[in-house]
Amino acid sequence: MTPPRRPAARRRTAVLRREAVLATVPVAVAALLAAAGPAAAGTTGSAGVGDPYFPFEGNGGYHVRHYGLTLRYDTASRHLDATAVLTARATQRLTRFDLDLKGLKVTRLTVDGTTAGFRRDGQELVVTPRRALRKGQEFRVKVTYNGTPKPVTDPDGSVDGWIPTDDGAFVAGEPQGSMTWFPANNHPKDKSSYDFTITVPEGRTAVANGVFLGQRTAHGHTTFRWRQTEPMAAYLATATVGKFKVEQYTTRDGIQVYNAVDPREASAAAPVLRKLPSVLEWESRLFGPYPFRAAGSIVDRAPNVGFALETQGRPEYDSAPDLSTLVHENAHQWFGDSVSLTAWKDIWLNEGFATYAEWLYSEQHGGDSAQKTFDKLYAKPAGDDLWAFPAGDPGSGADIFGTPVYARGAMVLHELRKAVGDRTFYRILRTWAAGHRGGHGTTAQFVRLAERESGKDLDGLFHTWLYTKGKPAEE
Ligand code: TRP
Ligand code: ZN
Repeated sequence: MTPPRRPAARRRTAVLRREAVLATVPVAVAALLAAAGPAAAGTTGSAGVGDPYFPFEGNGGYHVRHYGLTLRYDTASRHLDATAVLTARATQRLTRFDLDLKGLKVTRLTVDGTTAGFRRDGQELVVTPRRALRKGQEFRVKVTYNGTPKPVTDPDGSVDGWIPTDDGAFVAGEPQGSMTWFPANNHPKDKSSYDFTITVPEGRTAVANGVFLGQRTAHGHTTFRWRQTEPMAAYLATATVGKFKVEQYTTRDGIQVYNAVDPREASAAAPVLRKLPSVLEWESRLFGPYPFRAAGSIVDRAPNVGFALETQGRPEYDSAPDLSTLVHENAHQWFGDSVSLTAWKDIWLNEGFATYAEWLYSEQHGGDSAQKTFDKLYAKPAGDDLWAFPAGDPGSGADIFGTPVYARGAMVLHELRKAVGDRTFYRILRTWAAGHRGGHGTTAQFVRLAERESGKDLDGLFHTWLYTKGKPAEE
């Protein structure tokens, strides 16, 4: 058995620019927003949900219950023609509200079937319905739009969103990119169900989230339909297009698996993908039942991407993954996808947990023990990148995928495991996944749960490992 490799971060092309000017801009904007107050005008939905790392991500004043996305993508011209129907509920009286949409041309917008006013302001699509929406009112927004989607560049220099490839597009929206292809309440605080209807030239496959409902070919085009019933954050939505070999089966637990693999990656991917059912079973034993009805993989060839993403129910990989990466992205289905962040500052709840799943997999499959992995990391000198900032406080959106979030984030869990013992530790993980299933969790809630389940005061442990700058001293 080959012990899995353990990359510190899922990113292979490091473009970290920690002191780039870019990183300071959102902070300044956040201060401005805070000064204005998130819902300053009373009846206008705010332009962000108040996340200081990404001040314009998401919008206030409403919750989206469901997205119905109909997309038609021409792989040759890279043109997208689309409509998005959002079913939402106003959480306050609204004379105006925002959606997030970057680039693309909006040709028509209706609210409850009536033409509404709209204007563009950066990534904000500002909507003024003909009549004000009452607090608690359910409403439907239909946006008709088209254009050539382009990825966004994140504060750390990576790209995300709709990323064209030589045979389609690799669509991965963490942390911001969903707004490059559909109008959304683009923050993990808001979770929704989704329906996708995607038309692409015959011979290409369009893969989205959730259960595959079927495909139909007519006049040289094929339409694929997908349904994501469990709540999903916008960044986890995908509509990846390419030439794919498709494999479908149902696991012993009744999970519907759909794997789409770029034929150029097929032979490298096959031995790893074959392990998916056993990895999901192993993770279900550790973390509790798999949270979704669908699972699978999208293995693309997207050399300019440099990361994999835990797209809900069906992680996507920019090339054939190794086993450790498969374990990591599927562990995110529990930690990150089913249990979501309310603020990007808490990103260690995603990446620390998924990384620790890799350590545990190795430990239980003939590789290094988690203790050994921990010791190797702890041996790194105080000046190493690993200790550049505390895992629980990356400081800005530029560092949410930095080494400390992944590796030191996993070290936090290892310290917790040593402090409470294996039985209690695994019970904490399962209780976390079950208690917040389909919803959200914060670091403070996790700390409280760990203390409750263990009956221990863990303030010192979390303070040291999550929040203290630099390399924690030896106990
Ligand atoms: N969440 C991904 C993972 O660890 C990594 C990721 C997503 C990422 N988007 C990114 C890393 C942008 C760097 C930049 O599985
Ligand atoms: Zn991850």
